[in-house]
Amino acid sequence: MTVSATLRGAILEIMVDNPPVNALGHAVRKGLLEALEAGARQPEVEAIVIACAGRTFFAGADISEFGKPPLDPILPDLCNAIEALAKPVVAAIHGTALGGGLEVALACHYRVAVPSARLGLPEVKLGLIPGAGGTQRLPRLVGVAAATDMIVSGDPIPAGKAAELGLVDHVAAEGSLIEEAHRWAQVIAGRRPLPRTGERPVAGDAAAIDRYAETHARKLRGQTAPQACFEALRAAIDLPLAEGLAVERGLFRQLVAGDQSAALRHYFFAERRAARIDGLDASIEPLPIETVGVIGAGTMGAGIAMAFLSKGLRVVLLETGADALDRGLANIRRTYEASVAKGRMTQEAGDQALARLSTTLDYAALGGCDLIIEAVFELMAVKREVFARIDAVARPGAILATNTSYLDIDEIAAATGRPDHVVGLHFFSPANIMKLLEVVRGARTSPRVLATAMALAKRIGKIAVVAGNGYGFIGNRLLARRRSEAFELLLEGVAPWDIDEAHVGFGMPMGPFRMSDLAGVDIGWHRDPARVENVRDALCAAGRLGQKAGKGYYDYDEARQATPSAEALAIIDAFARGQGRARRDVPRDDILERTLYAMVDEGARLLAEGIAQRASDIDVVWVNGYGWPSYLGGPMHWAERTGLAHIVERLRAHGMPVAPLLAEKAARGERFDDPRPA
Ligand code: 3HC
Ligand code: NAI
Repeated sequence: MTVSATLRGAILEIMVDNPPVNALGHAVRKGLLEALEAGARQPEVEAIVIACAGRTFFAGADISEFGKPPLDPILPDLCNAIEALAKPVVAAIHGTALGGGLEVALACHYRVAVPSARLGLPEVKLGLIPGAGGTQRLPRLVGVAAATDMIVSGDPIPAGKAAELGLVDHVAAEGSLIEEAHRWAQVIAGRRPLPRTGERPVAGDAAAIDRYAETHARKLRGQTAPQACFEALRAAIDLPLAEGLAVERGLFRQLVAGDQSAALRHYFFAERRAARIDGLDASIEPLPIETVGVIGAGTMGAGIAMAFLSKGLRVVLLETGADALDRGLANIRRTYEASVAKGRMTQEAGDQALARLSTTLDYAALGGCDLIIEAVFELMAVKREVFARIDAVARPGAILATNTSYLDIDEIAAATGRPDHVVGLHFFSPANIMKLLEVVRGARTSPRVLATAMALAKRIGKIAVVAGNGYGFIGNRLLARRRSEAFELLLEGVAPWDIDEAHVGFGMPMGPFRMSDLAGVDIGWHRDPARVENVRDALCAAGRLGQKAGKGYYDYDEARQATPSAEALAIIDAFARGQGRARRDVPRDDILERTLYAMVDEGARLLAEGIAQRASDIDVVWVNGYGWPSYLGGPMHWAERTGLAHIVERLRAHGMPVAPLLAEKAARGERFDDPRPA
């Protein structure tokens, strides 16, 4: 039974139960409308309470129904019907009232919520606007400024804040939502006129919208949904409700049929799919992890330590010398102090996080750890030595992990007597902030260790993607391919800033060469200035190591402002000439085609090799780890929208290799994740 109705005294309680998140699919909408209409007809019913069973109030429209023909009653009609009802309707909210869920609540005459409830209109994150009255009713209830904030950011707010804004009428005690909603319904049952949100005037004017658009211009660049939100909000100010609702509906229909929303919906499900490991028994119990050892207190080690400390785990941090340890510790302290100063963390939480940290120079101190992660120099000999040492001190059953960016996990595991307990945990910089975690499975990594890594990732708020053991795993493998194609372009005479500009124009936050300058041009450099085999070597040999050196592909001033560097260009030019490479005119379109299609080709190779389980996992890695715009869905989704056959044709036209899997998918008109014929 999806929707049930129970009469208690004069109050009709409509309870919806559609696990897991009470999405407002067709059956729910139909059942809800029927129950409401029946309640309106029954003379003994004086007021109606709408509540949900399970973990949450309605989490929104059923996203999997988008793109299919709509079935009556559609959500906007349901909301209008609720608002028009002649008897008062109270929404009883727990968990999350999101999207269509909040729109149902807005159409109700009263809203009661528990303190832990969160209310929001996250449609913009799916490339949409609220399509069931949210853009029209919310500004009428909370004013234009607050509504703009909620609708365009898509971020939910807690019940307490919602009550301050007038979005929630009564905050009920945790655990007694239904009782208090009933009591509220009894109190207001006879009150007339009914407070219909749609009949209220809008408080505020378009200046709040303009202000928001201006302050967030950079962040919103390239995206269609936020602009549509602004337009719908302006309609709320300028037009009567019915006309505003029609504007909203028109914009929603346009967006839901567009590429950006398709990409963001793809991404929503991709992120959830990534948590699943094909062939892994879902009932495996993860190992308990409470204390984590971190080896190396450099950039990554300090960040990794904080990622655990902030989530309540204990960390033992080990270094080779007191100086390096002090530097790492100071870095961690500074980061927590800054978080407290910026109001992102309470002083108490910062102090508690630091209190969970201990430091050591002695491997024996790692004996009590459940997991030990190594983040030392990216050199196989050093990694193997470290692993042999931790293997000697770690308790039986402890997991040993490496944060290596490119190295062979199996070779590292072979330095221990427990390769089944070795796994790659590839964090991204800054590790305390970046959401992505590549979980690299070695040839012998046990299912339980994998399950533990995935569960742990979730616990510390990371999005984990499992990768097979191969050079650069998923993310860096695509990055390396893009870089080698970008180097080719440099040798043909294209300037680094032209390549960067093309990528920024495409929607990336930063081009490949600015990114290289920021990360350090010398990452992976062999450190022999006499050995110049590519552009990177040539720049490093000249001391152009990136932003940290004040010069890389660009020159940097004290404020870290980048300007194109004539010297870098001359170095590249000299190297190209030395290689006998002639400059040629490269059409601007070729820059993106060659660098991005090369990534798609590499992605197809990752799939064929089984390094990535599915194309959508590659998308999750590049959106979360490398700034690929989520409204373009990730490189593999984007490739499918662009057309695989077109990409194959262009790769061939550029004389570039085409992965057999890519050619096969293109020839068959299939998508990457379509099941392969048996
Ligand atoms: N429609 C369909 N399926 C949904 C869904 C939705 N709105 N929301 C969640 N699900 C599914 C997930 O895909 C997942 O399925 P799986 O178990 O098969 O992978 C399952 O429900 C559980 O979801 P999560 O793993 O995300 O569970 P969490 O507890 O971590 O999070 C949540 C719960 C906060 C509700 C989160 O799922 C969420 O943010 N959902 C989307 C909310 C949203 O965007 N709503 C707006 C929809 S658009 C809309 O309403 C348009 C309207 O204006 C007309
Ligand atoms: P880093 O140079 O900032 O830090 C390395 C630290 O390890 C130094 O503090 C050093 O003293 C310490 N160390 C070296 N040998 C050691 C040993 N035998 N025992 C204990 N400590 C030792 O380097 P970074 O950037 O933190 O990188 C560490 C690892 O993380 C590398 O494998 C790197 O490939 C990987 N990585 C780096 C990323 C980045 O963006 N910097 C991103 C993801 C992974």
